Amino acid sequence: MSNNIVGLNKEKKLIKNAINAKHHVLLIGETGLGKTMLVKEFSIEQKINLHRVSLNGEIGLNEILGRWLVKDGTTFWQDGILVTAMKNGDWIVFDEINAALPEVLFCLNALLDDEAAIMLAEKDNEVVRAHNNFRFFATMNPSDSYVGTKDMNQALMSRFHLVICFKDYATNVELEIVKKHVTEVDEAIIETMIMGAKELRLLKNSGDIMAYCSTRDLINMSKVVLSNNNIRIDEVFELCFLNKMSREERDIAVRKLEKNTSMRFFKEPVTNGRFVAVEKVMRKLNIVQEEVARLEVLRDGLKTETVAKISQCVLSGQFDHVIGVDNKKMLKKKSEMTRIASDKDYRTVEVEESI
Ligand SMILES: Nc1ncnc2c1ncn2[C@@H]1O[C@H](COP(=O)(O)OP(=O)(O)OP(=O)(O)O)[C@@H](O)[C@H]1O
Ligand SMILES: [Mg+2]
Repeated sequence: MSNNIVGLNKEKKLIKNAINAKHHVLLIGETGLGKTMLVKEFSIEQKINLHRVSLNGEIGLNEILGRWLVKDGTTFWQDGILVTAMKNGDWIVFDEINAALPEVLFCLNALLDDEAAIMLAEKDNEVVRAHNNFRFFATMNPSDSYVGTKDMNQALMSRFHLVICFKDYATNVELEIVKKHVTEVDEAIIETMIMGAKELRLLKNSGDIMAYCSTRDLINMSKVVLSNNNIRIDEVFELCFLNKMSREERDIAVRKLEKNTSMRFFKEPVTNGRFVAVEKVMRKLNIVQEEVARLEVLRDGLKTETVAKISQCVLSGQFDHVIGVDNKKMLKKKSEMTRIASDKDYRTVEVEESI
């Protein structure tokens, strides 16, 4: 077997034995845990054609078994993907099997019985028997956590000889997997991303978020790190994962990541959007969130250079807090700023904006 697969030794052995014994295998696990990859690698090793069908609810018997078509006035039968694989002695993987239409599930019942045959009702009840090399695999994500997928039909479930459950990878294994796919990325960066993914998986397990941050996501994130010089890890998580979530779930995820990892995220302005420009400049200057939080009443209407100047002062420790920026347009706010400063016993520093 090729060495593309990291770990999964037990699963490899079970699948290998199942292939030899002509057993039907169901692989259950969260997305991106290597279910499809494992079957694919065996098919490559054994030089067998592998077909994949995603049973997303739109695939019906026509696609699977076949249909009558008309060409140049002549009617002819075209085999569907399953019948083709059965006749050729290819392998087939049915992904998301728990989302299949009832008629598809019903037809699979007969296929997975000992005779390994199906009847084509549309074609005068022709019986198709599986070639000796034909093998059947199915995959599904754990159904209680995936909305829109039905629980697996019991009659079909009982026809699988074995059901293999895939678990989250240990950190060192996952690190090796990601490194195998994206060799050039710094190990420390990948490790931080894995820590982040693990936090997000805890949220998934507790039902706080729907999405599973997968090994596939981590490989993808590493590729984004590689194609964007000096990109920060929080930005990568934002672009590759958090932006795919609902606002509410994103907030939960951000809180968890900020609490348990070194990542710091851009906060949406609480008031009226005026802080955005300022925060963006701060981010450019690599000022972390804690420093941003020290700016209590920073006003907009400032030139970028002024904001940069203030940011540098914060960074270099010249300011303990910035409670306000007094520019010409905002003189009326000056009293408010002075009051806050004296309430909190802050010293005030004036920064002049060049015109
Ligand atoms: N053990 C592993 N060794 C090497 N690569 C891996 C391993 N596990 C996962 N990967 C990689 O992660 C990616 C996702 O794997 P795969 O498509 O097999 O996941 P899956 O479990 O079939 O997910 P889904 O449920 O979404 O279909 C692939 O790029 C695969 O090569
Ligand atoms: Mg898959």
